[in-house]
Amino acid sequence: MLVGTDTADDAGVYRLSEDLALVQTVDFFTPIVDDPYCYGQIAAANALSDIYAMGAKPLSALNIVCFPVETLPLEILAEILRGGADKAAEAGIPIIGGHTIKDHEPKYGLAVLGVVNPRSVVTNAGARPGDALVLTKPLGSGVASTAIKAGLATPELAQQATDSMATLNRAASEAMLVVGAKACTDITGFGLLGHLHEMTVASGVSAVVRFHSVPTLPGVIELIDAGVAPGGTYANRTHLASTVSYATEITSAQGLLLCDAQTSGGLLIAVAQDKAQALLDELLIRRVDSASIIGEIIADRPAGGSHIWVNQ
Ligand code: CO
Ligand code: CO
Ligand code: CO
Repeated sequence: MLVGTDTADDAGVYRLSEDLALVQTVDFFTPIVDDPYCYGQIAAANALSDIYAMGAKPLSALNIVCFPVETLPLEILAEILRGGADKAAEAGIPIIGGHTIKDHEPKYGLAVLGVVNPRSVVTNAGARPGDALVLTKPLGSGVASTAIKAGLATPELAQQATDSMATLNRAASEAMLVVGAKACTDITGFGLLGHLHEMTVASGVSAVVRFHSVPTLPGVIELIDAGVAPGGTYANRTHLASTVSYATEITSAQGLLLCDAQTSGGLLIAVAQDKAQALLDELLIRRVDSASIIGEIIADRPAGGSHIWVNQ
């Protein structure tokens, strides 16, 4: 076993031989958008993301399905599965089986199998002081999903959030592998700061994030100001209270956005400072056009322990 459960990494890695390791991950959740086809696409993109975050290549996947057969028409299930199958096809992998059970609420996702050369696994434990931090998708999908459910999202926000969540992290992962990264994780339920915290702890470092460099979905700060944010986002901020210091200029809404629980968020990549621009160039070539350098890795606090500073 090369990567297990100790470092809160994105996927497990198990070595088969000198140059071949298996990468395994599973993710599934309840619907976050109304359209069943989009939901299927997003759930599949989210599950595949953990393979890409390890610098690995997906091979195949299994469907995991819970569905209320007594209360919802089977056509909805067919649309969810079609969304998942289309996203898997876009990733170049077959769905080779799965399992379905009856449940009160629909749930869908994938168990994904991938491969990687054991020498090129990108874990979340390799970040070093001086590395630049690059984020590849805009933040705010948790706020957007809550707004969509409440009928408060503008058509622009709903479209951009749905497109972003359904986008594979494959191109971002390829760009990272071309340039060479120190560490990587994808941004999901614990939010940007929660997943950055996991990276800094696993790497034994601290970090600085500059709020105004962080890409965000349109209008999400205004929605947070109006009280629209998921419970998980508030829970993330509370959980990170002793880990994160916010500069006085950072508003409560801005701080909360950095803790927003994401679905199928972008990759957070730690890269040597002198390779950061090359990474942005490779991302742009692959049309990952909202990627930005959002901060950097610094040494641990003198007292020890990982900490995150959020500046303007
Ligand atoms: Co992950
Ligand atoms: Co996951
Ligand atoms: Co079975």
